[in-house]
Amino acid sequence: TDSKKELLLKAHEESLELFHHILLNTKIGEQALAYLTDRGLTREVIETFGIGFAPRERTMLHQYLIGKDYQPTLLKESGLFVERDNGELLDRFYNRIIFPIRNQQGKVVAFSGRIFEVDDHEDGPKYLNSPETYLFNKRNVLFNYDKARAAIRREKEVVLFEGFMDVIAAWQAGVQNGVASMGTSLTNEQIHMLDRVTDHVLIAYDSDNAGIEAAKRAADLLSEQTDFDIEILSFSEGMDPDDFIKENGAAAFKELLSHGRTTLFGFKMRYFRRSLNLANESERLGYIEKILTEMLTITSAVEREMYFKQLAAEFDVSLDSLKEQFQKYFYEQR
Ligand code: CTP
Ligand code: MN
Ligand code: MN
Ligand code: MN
Ligand code: MN
Repeated sequence: TDSKKELLLKAHEESLELFHHILLNTKIGEQALAYLTDRGLTREVIETFGIGFAPRERTMLHQYLIGKDYQPTLLKESGLFVERDNGELLDRFYNRIIFPIRNQQGKVVAFSGRIFEVDDHEDGPKYLNSPETYLFNKRNVLFNYDKARAAIRREKEVVLFEGFMDVIAAWQAGVQNGVASMGTSLTNEQIHMLDRVTDHVLIAYDSDNAGIEAAKRAADLLSEQTDFDIEILSFSEGMDPDDFIKENGAAAFKELLSHGRTTLFGFKMRYFRRSLNLANESERLGYIEKILTEMLTITSAVEREMYFKQLAAEFDVSLDSLKEQFQKYFYEQR
């Protein structure tokens, strides 16, 4: 019912306020706050995103919400707790930095908690997320979509990141049209959300193996929706956007955004050669033929000409032979 939804939203909002207060104003939040400050976050951006800290005791949030008269059945459904065999509820999030996840209306519907202590014996994933609940359907959520929407419309572009910290660091650097897919493959619902506000997507995933694979997959999924213009932002091997900003600063990041993009095709050319040894003749030939077939998707004759020239120069083959081979693929495909 609607009142159930209202109550669950209210429980999330009150949890957020508690976590956020603990991070900013209490002794037990000090270490977590120092970690975030160390990572370069300002107090202002911590407030903008409502970042918080869930302390070690696993009864805190439960007691707090029971004290506010939430019913145990509602709390069980909230995703904020885990249930023991004896029916007791324990706080799901403890000893973690808390990132609120908001729906399109800006209401908190879930949390993600990051481990941050190096000396800790606590195991579990780096980020622990709320499970799917009545409020939270991961497929329908992009981190920061609510706050980024205005900037996406203004810039006529969305920057698609992998992670929370990438979005937040970019925001602090003045790039506020960023959202994150939160490390999972883009869903049709998320693509539809993007489609409603823009037709330009700049993919800025991590430049590690997982990120490059994910960027290729995201680009393929977005390309299936014909009207997206897609570009790619890359970083030094192994780096993510947040690392880049921390190392090079906000101005360098903005410079990269304006002048450091690759076309989707340029990215694919680099992508396909990652797994090849181009010193090997047959792999070299296979690569050239692969690129030529991929070029069938390029509609701009000028852009095609650019890649013909790149291939000719790099592999010391004639433009004529490349074009002849391309024509052959072109007629085969028709
Ligand atoms: N993620 C997750 N669960 C994990 C690991 C990752 O949900 N166990 C999601 C998070 O949204 C995370 C994103 O995937 O932000 C990207 O993962 P990764 O690149 O590993 O983390 P970073 O965002 O770089 O986080 P940090 O900089 O804090 O290490
Ligand atoms: Mn356009
Ligand atoms: Mn990553
Ligand atoms: Mn990352
Ligand atoms: Mn990171």
